[in-house]
Amino acid sequence: MKKVYIETYGCQMNEYDSELVKSILRSENYEFTHSESEADIIFLNTCAIRENAHSKIYGRLGEIKHLKQKKKKLVVGLLGCMSQNLRGNLDRSENIVDIFAGPDSYKRLPGMIQAVQASGKKEYDFSLSEFEDYSDVYPQRVPGVNAWLAVMRGCDNFCTFCVVPYTRGRERSRTIESVVTETERLAADGFKQVTLLGQNVNSYRSAGADFADLMVAVASVDGIERVRFTSPHPKDFPEKFLHVMAEHPNICNHIHLPLQAGNNRVLDLMARTYTKESFLDLVDNVRTTVPGVALTTDVIVGFPTETDEEFEDTMEVLEQVEFDSAYIFKYSERKNTIAYKKHPDDVTPAKKTERIVRVFALQKQKSLKRNREDIGKRLQVLIEGPSKKNPDEWMGRTDSNKIVVLAKRDFDKGDMVLAEITGATANTLFGHEIEN
Ligand code: SAH
Ligand code: SF4
Ligand code: F3S
Repeated sequence: MKKVYIETYGCQMNEYDSELVKSILRSENYEFTHSESEADIIFLNTCAIRENAHSKIYGRLGEIKHLKQKKKKLVVGLLGCMSQNLRGNLDRSENIVDIFAGPDSYKRLPGMIQAVQASGKKEYDFSLSEFEDYSDVYPQRVPGVNAWLAVMRGCDNFCTFCVVPYTRGRERSRTIESVVTETERLAADGFKQVTLLGQNVNSYRSAGADFADLMVAVASVDGIERVRFTSPHPKDFPEKFLHVMAEHPNICNHIHLPLQAGNNRVLDLMARTYTKESFLDLVDNVRTTVPGVALTTDVIVGFPTETDEEFEDTMEVLEQVEFDSAYIFKYSERKNTIAYKKHPDDVTPAKKTERIVRVFALQKQKSLKRNREDIGKRLQVLIEGPSKKNPDEWMGRTDSNKIVVLAKRDFDKGDMVLAEITGATANTLFGHEIEN
């Protein structure tokens, strides 16, 4: 029985990991299906970052239970961060799951499937590796415009709220040669854009080379029109890297700079290693060295002990920096993290809601302001495909990673189109193609 259905949750790294899993299984002659009812094997590649990521998976397992009742031989596997985080100790639904595997165990999946099919017993693998970087696996990507490429895995930062260092283990980087060889293959396969991934992508280190060296090498590959990267940590932005960004036109003018909080006491409790002042200095420096750079961020409201007054510091930084966009989260307590052990989750749900509503409102205003600044500009848009809302319109992105909706003309996915921007909302730019 060899038909596999994979569903992916969480971040881009998980999307990439599912592509690795497909490649590993395909080399053992497994086939893939988009229909879970046709599948012999169902894998959920899971996320653990906030409690609602866990809840979603419990919900899905409840649905899959019905399939399993109809099809006794169905094999169900839980992959990824939630699997690693709970190590098989699900609160409920564990009887449905046959395979539990963490992010460093994917090469063992074919063996685990066989073992379950032979014995009917559950299989577990939660070993985290200091070396596994999957550089010998070429992911099975869906052909398209953008390719994800993990250049490093794991995280050593241990921000006190975060589960990732526990679910993905220690930092390790691939060699520059292996990343460049893969990028060359991506260009030959028709990908126009590559996004370098890592939980801490700018902490990349390999044989004396740093992230700036890696970016130069990747940006120099023929045929790759755009290079992006995510997610960086504010602690690793040396001048050298900013100059590399400024000097290479195909390195996109966008940096995701996760702030998390604007108050120094809270930042210290989070172990973020920067202060409000040093973060603001970094923003100034980035904007001076990389003119026109778009900045986006992540914010957590309601970290344990955060007072109303301290929350105002977060608002102040958002007010001053005027990020192009932001992902905003309520603090969600994660078992076994440092924050969980040291500080009870004492900001009430009502307070968290009150704060997140204010951050949303402020950020919406700032995103709209930033997007309106693009009206009247002529920008290069890389076309990604039909717009979700209207099949007669196309969707693409600017260098600064903003979504642009354009009236349909005879262009195709992967085309670089010069567009005049004529309108903007907080989330989207609107425009039309103009002749070069
Ligand atoms: N490695 C990346 C992102 C990790 S997760 C980085 O450091 O930027 C993405 C975002 O989820 C984080 O930036 C943070 O804002 C949020 N997050 C992580 N743990 C969280 C938690 N326990 N509760 C709420 N939000 C969390
Ligand atoms: Fe989590 Fe911090 Fe590592 Fe990002 S840098 S993955 S927030 S521990
Ligand atoms: Fe989630 Fe793991 Fe990514 S916890 S956000 S899938 S690294």
